[in-house]
Amino acid sequence: MSDEQTMFTLGPDEQITHWYNIVADLPTPPPPPLHPGTHEHVGPEDLAPLFPMELIEQEVSTERYIEIPEPVREVYAQYRPSPLYRARRWEKALETPARIYYKYEGVSPAGSHKVNTSVPQVYYNVKAGIRRLTTETGAGQWGTALAYACSLFGAECEVWQVGVSFDGKPQRRTLIEVFGGKVHRSPSRMTESGRAFPEDHPGSLGIAISEAVEVAAQDPEAKYALGSVLNHVLLHQTVIGEETLRQLAKAGEGAPDVVIGCAGGGSNFAGLAFPFLRENLTKGTKTRITAVEPSSCPTLTRGEYRYDFGDTAGMTPLMKMYTLGHDFVPSPIHAGGLRYHGMAPLVSHVKHEGLIDAIALPQLECFEAAIEFARTQGAVPAPESSHAIAQARREALAAKETGEEKVIVFGLSGHGLLELGAYEQFFAGKLSDDSLSEEALAASLANVPKIG
Ligand SMILES: Cc1ncc(COP(=O)(O)O)c(C=O)c1O
Repeated sequence: MSDEQTMFTLGPDEQITHWYNIVADLPTPPPPPLHPGTHEHVGPEDLAPLFPMELIEQEVSTERYIEIPEPVREVYAQYRPSPLYRARRWEKALETPARIYYKYEGVSPAGSHKVNTSVPQVYYNVKAGIRRLTTETGAGQWGTALAYACSLFGAECEVWQVGVSFDGKPQRRTLIEVFGGKVHRSPSRMTESGRAFPEDHPGSLGIAISEAVEVAAQDPEAKYALGSVLNHVLLHQTVIGEETLRQLAKAGEGAPDVVIGCAGGGSNFAGLAFPFLRENLTKGTKTRITAVEPSSCPTLTRGEYRYDFGDTAGMTPLMKMYTLGHDFVPSPIHAGGLRYHGMAPLVSHVKHEGLIDAIALPQLECFEAAIEFARTQGAVPAPESSHAIAQARREALAAKETGEEKVIVFGLSGHGLLELGAYEQFFAGKLSDDSLSEEALAASLANVPKIG
């Protein structure tokens, strides 16, 4: 193998056959979700109006490994294993002794990691006889991924797209339509949850989730699909970390010093990080694991760890998570997929237990890092992924100071070729670093329900 090898892949006989469930290895079990009305533990029957039974079983499973069904593996084989790259040219530009690797999910049909879960979600729904799926989308990546999966398995797909994204990213909308999905601007006039807001409201993921849930709950032929946050979504994303572990071994590396992922609802972060966390928990490796979020939506770093709703209207189960308050409307930063008030309960739990750490970064630093990365590595990052790049850059520059040859791995969760408008605004000096004021945070936390 050449010393200068930059791309690491896996052979056909090395495909990942099982998803990894971190719940099996956690020192303490994560707190259960609660019914929004009674505050009792949620049982599988409470989730049945929204999800098919096989996904509910995965949601509550404590099995360590869950086999990936053959039809899902066939679709994964279109774009997986995704490449792991060594960022040699960026390392040189940064003059760092660190070795930087990135796992690139932008090779999927929708351009991000979201296809890893849209495919199994649609597969299990169609298997259960469901023909219509509703969902929300922030940046548009999840809507694209779900529309693509629905087109493969013959289901209808209806997407509520957060208002600012709908207005600012018409090409994402078109891509969803190319894959056969139908798109509504959220807040829409079609639902009670949407009509509670003015039509020109910028929207939020919380509002769009309420709209999609409301429609699915009223139609016995329909179910709802969520692109992040829930246990089964994080489970499906673990193909990312499982592949990365094997690819790093091919690159001749042991346990990396640090693994970094951007975190909105927490799915790509968990997908990359949880297999490494398993190694820490079961084999005593000491990899540091860092979730990166935007300073304008700092859920893990400034939110409170308590029960809250996953949506704005309060229709979802109450989940124990870091939250900024379910009616928090983040400033319209360009990383639309990171504008969520909560964080996956499993990611929140491992953060609360001190098993991972988190940092919030300002958006201008993220764009600067993404552009430097694009100019050396040739991949244009999604604005969400740029948060992981900026933190990898901080780690690489710290290694330069100390002379440490550390190994840094980060998740490049998607490409930004449909987000060029955001780069255009950055070059025109129209973007700023909005941080969240204490007053705004206190106001939205005041509306979080008081449980127990
Ligand atoms: C490219 C990309 N990365 C990251 C995210 C954040 O979501 P999650 O935290 O669930 O990975 C999104 C969400 O839309 C996304 O499109």
